[in-house]
Amino acid sequence: MAIFAQNSLIMSTALRETKLTFDPPADFYRGKVRDVYRRGDELLMVASDRISSFDHVLPKAIPHKGQILNQTAIHFLEATRDICPNWLEISPDPNVAIGKACAAIPIEMVIRGYAVGHAWRTYRTAQEEARTPVLCGVEMPAGMREADAFPEPIITPATKAEEGHDEDISRAEILARGIVTKEVYHKLEDYTRRLFARGTAMAAERGLLLVDTKYEFGLLNGEIYLIDEIHTPDSSRYFYADGYAERQAAGQRQKQLSKEFVREWLMDHNFQGLEGQTMPDMPDDFVNLVTQRYTELYETITGKTFVPADTTDIEGRIKANLAGTGWTVV
Ligand SMILES: Nc1ncnc2c1ncn2[C@@H]1O[C@H](COP(=O)(O)OP(=O)(O)OP(=O)(O)O)[C@@H](O)[C@H]1O
Ligand SMILES: [Mg+2]
Repeated sequence: MAIFAQNSLIMSTALRETKLTFDPPADFYRGKVRDVYRRGDELLMVASDRISSFDHVLPKAIPHKGQILNQTAIHFLEATRDICPNWLEISPDPNVAIGKACAAIPIEMVIRGYAVGHAWRTYRTAQEEARTPVLCGVEMPAGMREADAFPEPIITPATKAEEGHDEDISRAEILARGIVTKEVYHKLEDYTRRLFARGTAMAAERGLLLVDTKYEFGLLNGEIYLIDEIHTPDSSRYFYADGYAERQAAGQRQKQLSKEFVREWLMDHNFQGLEGQTMPDMPDDFVNLVTQRYTELYETITGKTFVPADTTDIEGRIKANLAGTGWTVV
């Protein structure tokens, strides 16, 4: 009984979604993870406790995940302002960030330092078919093994699809389709490389390797801004630096710090987001494990101690914290 009571308490304190009404009113968009309120040039983003994997939202929310995500993103947005202007202005609540609403550029700037995930699968297929491995128009060097470092990080953009999976796209195709001008695209690549270099240096201070990540950018008054979240476990993969070289030499799997364990759990339960597959139910033990893992991720990646916010009434807390921000909840 005690266990049931505890679990039901934990379940009830996750923030699945928000229903905020503002005066003056705001437009609303629900992403897979964030609830986004927009009013003119201002954006208010609530990081919910939803978790997504394989482009699907999982059936249960993860207590504290929203706070962890929001605060990780803020940590890195603050630490990269000297490289690139970003959208963030204030965070009046642990789950909330407020800043500039930009016209989102519909490309994800993916950058990879190591051959893992999609890059590695593409590489292996090319190898099997005795072709030169190419990803998004970028040729990858011969003789690589999984999790080897690229001589230089490679940029492998993806289109942000309205529905479903994002698709690989090359620089040439982005320019041919006129998604952005050559000048803007050049700047996006330059920002992407410099942000990744900063993320790599910050990860190194924490004993980590930044494996790959993605950035989103937007335009406002003709200027490029970094938007969304950066360097979070939802948008990035990290390896532990300690023992990396030894594991590579021995052909062992690398130790990853990311939400890969969620993907693996889903695959073990026969779900990869494919047509006809059903999302497995999530036992409370697994939900609790995810909270635990995200907390560890936060502390390792940022070097800060996680201070969980009061979750007895998250939406009420958010409303109270928004007082004085100009975002009046009615
Ligand atoms: N400053 C900003 N200006 C405009 N849009 C933004 C800004 N910051 C983030 N966004 C957008 O807000 C949304 C954040 O929600 P979330 O990350 O949950 O969505 P997602 O599931 O990743 O993406 P989507 O649902 O759009 O496919 C994303 O669509 C992102 O592009
Ligand atoms: Mg997102």
